[in-house]
Amino acid sequence: MSALRAPAPAAPAEPVPPAPEGRPTRRHLLSVADLDPAGIGEVLAVTDHLAEVVRRSIPRVQALRGRTVVSLFAEESTRTRLSFETAARRMSADVMTFSSASSSVKKGESLRDTVETIAAMGVDAFVVRHPAAGAPAQVARWVDAHVVNAGDGWHEHPTQALLDCYTIRQVLAEAAGVPVAQTGTEGFAGLRVGIVGDVRHSRVARSLVLALSMLGARTTLVAPGTLVPPSLEGWPVVGVSHDLDALLPDLDVVYLLRLQLERGTGAYLPSLREYTAGFGLTARRAARLAPHAVVMHPGPMNRGVEIADEVADATRSVVLRQVANGVAVRMAVLYLLLAGPEAPGADELGRSLGVAGG
Ligand code: NCD
Repeated sequence: MSALRAPAPAAPAEPVPPAPEGRPTRRHLLSVADLDPAGIGEVLAVTDHLAEVVRRSIPRVQALRGRTVVSLFAEESTRTRLSFETAARRMSADVMTFSSASSSVKKGESLRDTVETIAAMGVDAFVVRHPAAGAPAQVARWVDAHVVNAGDGWHEHPTQALLDCYTIRQVLAEAAGVPVAQTGTEGFAGLRVGIVGDVRHSRVARSLVLALSMLGARTTLVAPGTLVPPSLEGWPVVGVSHDLDALLPDLDVVYLLRLQLERGTGAYLPSLREYTAGFGLTARRAARLAPHAVVMHPGPMNRGVEIADEVADATRSVVLRQVANGVAVRMAVLYLLLAGPEAPGADELGRSLGVAGG
């Protein structure tokens, strides 16, 4: 009806008010390289508050009410998809799910059609997993919504790296006897991390190495020669080792990667048995670790191949903590992308959520 009314006389020109002071907002999380060390620190600090929310009897806040998050998964996933969707719901966002490992989304055009169709329904964020490296970056060029990379080919998996860093920081805080929310990222300086296994095909390793190096950790890749990336340009590591036994006693964190058999890793190995003999974390090998050292794995685990049952279930394994922390970390990432520049940052968030100590 207002279209039939005469237009209101133009308001006298007023000076444009300065933009409100607030947190700088990021549009997307496509790579760990979209963050700097302070940005990683901010995700971890916001996670501290949201982890407290997750521990409540009703683990839900209104922070993203009215926002819509779609999970667009063109590759198999259990934990990452459920983790993102749980995270979005705990922030009171609406969640749409698109799951397809079928060929209709494997060609660029079809993916574009799918994405534009979903975007037309009104979406604030796309969480994208795709077998092709660079697909989430493509999606970001097609839509106005925020895009989070939930794993693209062999390229990156930034939220996995962030949840791994959160878990390491939690372990460091416990070892020092301080509440995790009172620690920064200082504990990463000089931390000795070994990333073991199928580095060549691993988006997890690429993102984790970037994040750890930004925080000052010293990462060594440990793998048979065939599973080391052909070029280590852009891999800020202190070295590559083919001798896990020699390195184990010197590590604070041993991070095992899954052999990516669906990506053809079998062709790079004489046999799985030989791989396990040289690089599997067996109980005998785990006994060589320093008493404080922890074992990590992004899941899903090939038990009996890269990790023995006894090691996966031992107290020094923090695999399930990684999964648990994943929800709070993804809540933090969605919050930082979607809540807007005027929403409280890490410092005030605890108070606004009614979190103890905030
Ligand atoms: C990882 C992935 O899909 O990249 N899993 C995960 O997200 N937790 C690691 C893997 O599949 O090996």
